[in-house]
Amino acid sequence: MNQSLPSLGRISKAVIPAAGLGTRFLPATKATPKEMLPVVDKPAIQYVVEEAVAAGLSDVLMITGRNKRPLEDHFDRNYELEEALSRKGDDERLSKVQESSDLATMHYVRQGAPRGLGHAVLCAAPHVGEQPFAVLLGDDLIDPRDPLLSRMVEVQEREGGSVIALMEVEPSQIHLYGCAAVEATVDSDVVKVTDLVEKPDAGEAPSNYAIIGRYVLDPAVFGMLRETEPGRGGEIQLTDALQKLASDEKIGGPVHGVVFKGRRYDTGDRGDYLRAIVRLACEREDLGPDFRAWLRRYVSEEM
Ligand code: G1P
Repeated sequence: MNQSLPSLGRISKAVIPAAGLGTRFLPATKATPKEMLPVVDKPAIQYVVEEAVAAGLSDVLMITGRNKRPLEDHFDRNYELEEALSRKGDDERLSKVQESSDLATMHYVRQGAPRGLGHAVLCAAPHVGEQPFAVLLGDDLIDPRDPLLSRMVEVQEREGGSVIALMEVEPSQIHLYGCAAVEATVDSDVVKVTDLVEKPDAGEAPSNYAIIGRYVLDPAVFGMLRETEPGRGGEIQLTDALQKLASDEKIGGPVHGVVFKGRRYDTGDRGDYLRAIVRLACEREDLGPDFRAWLRRYVSEEM
């Protein structure tokens, strides 16, 4: 039996941890949050908020920290800029400026001390209350043509408990992720999660199913996080709290995984970030044709 309160209506809240220091992108991130780095012409974080909204989650809580004010400004109105553009009659750019402030109802809470992803999620407890909620990590961008979060919400509403996004990766890469031991279910894209381990050492991974940064969680996770001791890297790990949920369904219901086979763009380090920009630029209707032609020439003539 699931001891947490039953879900009342549709899941509506998304939590986006954005308190990290972004040290892998220094010096760019000395005074600018890494979430504000542009991916083509939009800050990375806007793709993530758009994804939450597309899945029906229009109440967004960002977990921020010091130096993260630009995030709040980006999702707020900028009257001065709007007025200047509207005076010029530049409606196209005006709508780009207004897009991010009209997207969602934004809330912010500061993490204070950088004590890990699990601790960041725990900071959302007072805002979330007793409802299941989603967590989206900013380093993973999911192509809007390959919906993942809406499928996870659907599975959570049917099965209860928690649902995490999984992707099969090369065994040599699994040490970079949380890793899930799974059992098949009747749905080909859904598995039951039986065990979880955060960034397993080589040769100790129970599978090649990696957690990618999307979660739909039962609020029982907060109780587990409060009891979770620092784990990998001396940080309070969300994976460790989910492991406890997976090992005892009585606490917060089952943990399922949705296996994602679509397009995912990692922006977590510089190489991945550059690849994400090139891939997304190639696929853009406005920029793609010229950029692809240039890229082909560049690769054949200059590399
Ligand atoms: C976090 C999680 C990890 C997950 C990963 C997905 O790790 O702790 O379980 O696989 O996100 O991107 P991070 O990459 O923040 O170290």
